Amino acid sequence: MPAVHASVLEAIGNTPIVELNRYGAGVEPLLLAKLEFTNPGGSMKDRAALGMIEWAEREHDLQPGAEIIISTSGNLGIGMAMTCAVKGYRLTCLVDPKLNPATERSLELMGVELVKVDELDHTSGYHLTRLKRLQSLQRERPDAIYLDQYDSPAAIEAHRVSTGKEILEQMEGQLDAMIMVAGTGGSSMGVASWLREYSPDTEIWLVDEKGSLALPGSKDPEPRFLNGMGTSIEPANYQADAFAGYVDHVVYIEAGAAIAASVDIARKEGVLMGGSGGAACHVMRERVAPRFGKGARLLSLIPDHGSRYTQTQFDAAWLDQMGISLPQPFSGCSP
Ligand SMILES: Cc1ncc(COP(=O)(O)O)c(C=O)c1O
Repeated sequence: MPAVHASVLEAIGNTPIVELNRYGAGVEPLLLAKLEFTNPGGSMKDRAALGMIEWAEREHDLQPGAEIIISTSGNLGIGMAMTCAVKGYRLTCLVDPKLNPATERSLELMGVELVKVDELDHTSGYHLTRLKRLQSLQRERPDAIYLDQYDSPAAIEAHRVSTGKEILEQMEGQLDAMIMVAGTGGSSMGVASWLREYSPDTEIWLVDEKGSLALPGSKDPEPRFLNGMGTSIEPANYQADAFAGYVDHVVYIEAGAAIAASVDIARKEGVLMGGSGGAACHVMRERVAPRFGKGARLLSLIPDHGSRYTQTQFDAAWLDQMGISLPQPFSGCSP
């Protein structure tokens, strides 16, 4: 690895894997976490952002000053803002009230134009409202290029050849189960595709928030609270055939259990992860670990850092307002 990078984009990837021995005390398998928040933009979406923009450069012959539009719950926006800054493109992000204040301010500081929608769609999410606004934005700005992260072979490929390959190299080929969360599907489908090819015996677990419509077969939408997880539509990234071939188990989780796991891990391991990472770790310990014995190696992909959510997921007033109660031992106390 070079000591000095030509730009921040070369610093994407090579994120560490750490053992969660204190959080995993009392369970037989080894619990591991891949900390994607050490990417320079603070999340695993840096990888997808770079892959999607490089794809657009090949397909659309992007010139400096070109405008890119995306719809994002936050992290892709940061990764894209970083990539656009280095490459000289303008970025417009369609966002909604689930965007946390820290990420919103970061996007503004990075020179991103934010277009906000605030009307809930019929699935109790904002995705469909964002798409409606996108259509009018595209009419207003015909030269802008929309990059759809929900239908993005480039995002899947980026995670396949960077995240998936990296994981198997770091694990030296010894990985019994991989636990990932469901959002647009870029990370999970990319990593799963690499693992299916080069480590076919690794069990693939997908975790989604209760009430999400992301995964094939899901129904009954309900309000959702975890950033990055849960969608109002089934993203094309979860192509039914690929999904059936890659995913062994699907688990739905409530936001309270995910957030409590993040706090628990922060206190026991000194790793403060966002609620989606907490969701993966909770499922890894409670659902996956009991199926494996000593010596097994289980790995959760941790999308981002919890410091982004001090005013939302980790704020007692916000939790109250959203009607989220944390399970024992965190119930009744400010996390
Ligand atoms: C915090 C967080 N968790 C999970 C996800 C889901 O990842 P993907 O969209 O690759 O399915 C995202 C995506 O934006 C995210 O930002």
